[in-house]
Amino acid sequence: MIAATDQRSALEEARRYLVGGVNSPVRAFRHIGGEPLLLHRAKGAEVEDVQGRRFLDFIAGWGAILLGHNPPAVVDALRRRADAGVLLGLTHPAEAELARLITEAVPSVEQVRFTVSGTEADLTAARLAMGITGRRAVLAFDGCYHGHAVLAPEVIRVPYNDPAALEAALQRHGQQLACVIVEPVAANMGVVPPEPGFLARVRDLTSRQGILLVFDEVVTGFRLGAGGAQGSLGVTPDLTVFGKIIGGGLPIGAVGGPRRLLQRLAPEGDVYHGGTFAGHPLSMAAGIAALRELAAHPPYESLERRSGRLADGLLRESRAHGVSLRVNRAGSMLTVFFADRPVRNEADAKASRRDRFAQWARALLAQGILVPPSPFEALFLTTAHTDEHVERLIRASGEAFQSWHE
Ligand SMILES: Cc1ncc(COP(=O)(O)O)c(C=O)c1O
Repeated sequence: MIAATDQRSALEEARRYLVGGVNSPVRAFRHIGGEPLLLHRAKGAEVEDVQGRRFLDFIAGWGAILLGHNPPAVVDALRRRADAGVLLGLTHPAEAELARLITEAVPSVEQVRFTVSGTEADLTAARLAMGITGRRAVLAFDGCYHGHAVLAPEVIRVPYNDPAALEAALQRHGQQLACVIVEPVAANMGVVPPEPGFLARVRDLTSRQGILLVFDEVVTGFRLGAGGAQGSLGVTPDLTVFGKIIGGGLPIGAVGGPRRLLQRLAPEGDVYHGGTFAGHPLSMAAGIAALRELAAHPPYESLERRSGRLADGLLRESRAHGVSLRVNRAGSMLTVFFADRPVRNEADAKASRRDRFAQWARALLAQGILVPPSPFEALFLTTAHTDEHVERLIRASGEAFQSWHE
C-alpha cells in the first residue's frame, strides 16, 4: 500500500516509461477521463489499487476471469506447476489435457493449436483458412474485434446484423474470401447479440460458396456456457478461436476445429505456426484447473439469473429517473448504452451518449465500483459476484442518475 503522493509518482513513472502509461490503450481511461487506477491485488470480486482502495470489479480481466480473482484451485495448480518447472521447451501432457477438455465441451472441435493470445489465435485461424482455400481475403464485421493484427492482405468489412449487406459483399467478393470471421455474440462494440436468424444466414451463405466460417469465441467461449455461443445458439462454425477463460487468467489463445482442417497446420501441413511460449505450462495448468472447476460446478444458471437481475435493476433505475438507457446482455456479460434506440450494430453503439457513460462510470468509481472505462466494452459477472454486489451496482447507478437531474 502506498500514499497518495507516491501513487502520483508511480503514475508519472508509468507515463515516462510506458506509452501513454499503459500496455493496452483502454487502461488509460481516455473514454471516461480522470486518473487511471494502478492496481496491485485482486481477490474474489474485488481489486485493490496501490493506495489500498478496494473496488468491486466488473472488468473481470476483460472477461478472462469467470471464477472470480485467484480461485484456490487455479492458484494451487499454478504453484505446483511453478515448482515443477515454469517453461519446459518441449511438449508436456497438460497441453493435450487442456485441448481434450475443450474438445469435450465444444463438439465442433476435434483438435486444438494453442497460442499465447487471442490476437495470435485469430491471425492463425485466418492464415489457416487462407492455406486451406488458397484465397487471400477475409470478411469481418464492423465493431467486431479479432485482435490488433491485420488478419489478411485484404479485409472486407460489413455491418453486423445485416444479412443483406453480407449477401451483397459475398456476391462481389465471394471467390476471393478464405473465411468470414465473426464474434457470434459481439462484445467489442459493447455487447451486441446477433438478431434471430443472423448467424444461421451467415452459416448458410458461407457454406454455399466454400468460404470457411470462423467463430471468434475469445470472449464467449466457456462464458455463455461450456459450449460457448455455438452451443447456445445452435450454429456450427468450421473453425473456432478461443482465449481468455481457457487460460484461467494466464495468457492464452487457441484455434480449434475438425482434425481434417487443423491438420493443415505445421508439422502435419504447410501453414506454419509455432511459438516459444505456445502451450505454456503455467497457462495450461491454470486453464485445466479453471475448466475442471467449471465442469464440476457449472455456474451458468446462477450467472444468468444474477445477470438478468442486474439488467432489470439498471433498467428500473433508469426509468425511475428518466434516463434513456439500453442494456444489451448475453448471459453474464452486458453493456449499458445511454441510448434511446436499440443498439444492434456499431453505428448504433457509436450514436449512444458517451458523455453519459463517462459520467456514470466516474460516479461508480467514486462509490468503489469499477466498470470497464469505455462505452464499447462489456461488464462481466463472475462466480464471485453475489446478489448483494449486483444490488450495490444498481443502487449506485440509481444515485448517479438521480444526481443528473438535481
Ligand atoms: C473477440 C476477441 N477476439 C480477440 C481478442 C484478442 O485477444 P487478446 O487480447 O488475448 O490478444 C479479444 C480481446 O479482447 C476479443 O475480445
